[in-house]
Amino acid sequence: MDRLKGKIALISGGARGQGAAEARLFVREGAKVVVGDVLDDQARQLANEISAKAGEQAAVAVHLDVTRAADWRAAVDTCQRQFGGLDILVNNAGIFHMAGLEDTSEELWDTIVNINQKGVWLGMKTAVPAMRQRGGGSIINISSVAGLTGSTGSTAYHGTKGAVRLLSKAAAVQYARENIRVNSVHPGLISTQMIDIIPPEQRRAFHTILPMGREGSPEEVANVVLFLASDDASYVTGAEFVVDGGLNAV
Ligand SMILES: NC(=O)c1ccc[n+]([C@@H]2O[C@H](COP(=O)([O-])OP(=O)(O)OC[C@H]3O[C@@H](n4cnc5c(N)ncnc54)[C@H](O)[C@@H]3O)[C@@H](O)[C@H]2O)c1
Repeated sequence: MDRLKGKIALISGGARGQGAAEARLFVREGAKVVVGDVLDDQARQLANEISAKAGEQAAVAVHLDVTRAADWRAAVDTCQRQFGGLDILVNNAGIFHMAGLEDTSEELWDTIVNINQKGVWLGMKTAVPAMRQRGGGSIINISSVAGLTGSTGSTAYHGTKGAVRLLSKAAAVQYARENIRVNSVHPGLISTQMIDIIPPEQRRAFHTILPMGREGSPEEVANVVLFLASDDASYVTGAEFVVDGGLNAV
């Protein structure tokens, strides 16, 4: 309890899946949360549900398309006007596609790069001045095990998630003296709607490879993100956290 007391967080792609688990957990730990997503109705419903449970307006929803600088500015403005500042950014929004190198169209490439890679950079660029005003902050960029190792498909996804890993380290080095910490989180196979596009037989095959023999839950990723968001991680920056049931160790 209270590990984020007095802190204000912005979570991109927060309407469902891992982002929603983080929004619920952060508020339980004392934070105020702005949920940004393109899924406006789901984001609003979640913010209402969280606020009702907290007995106060602990969460609000904003329309945030992470590829648009104006949306990011409006989201950070909401954090400041509604709650008084910004301490934590979770760059969680992302899309997944299963297309190998030659099957990736230029349009698909641009879409994935814009959301998964440009979106993370834009989020950090917009959040840093607001965090500076608070004397520091914590940025958690959600990469993937696909940002650490390759596979036969999902070329653009691998490329963007690898970029998120090093974007995080570059920003960590740049802002360390300003007390703004930046870390990347690398989930493995996590039970959210994102992986419903994996054919069932392929998904079952994954389970046999996974050392823990099962998919992770959004809450299991959220627990690691909470640690990085909190002052418990005060000496942790530029690091990568694998949350994959042992997959990357195989
Ligand atoms: N589920 C997994 O197995 C897995 C594994 C590794 C990494 N990840 C990463 O975790 C993060 C969260 O994914 P999830 O598993 O919760 O999946 P999800 O599909 O449930 O959630 C992704 C969220 O991002 C939002 N989003 C998509 N495009 C957006 C945009 N342009 N602007 C703002 N929001 C946008 C979606 O609306 C959705 O709410 C993603 O970055 C994903 O790549 C997921």
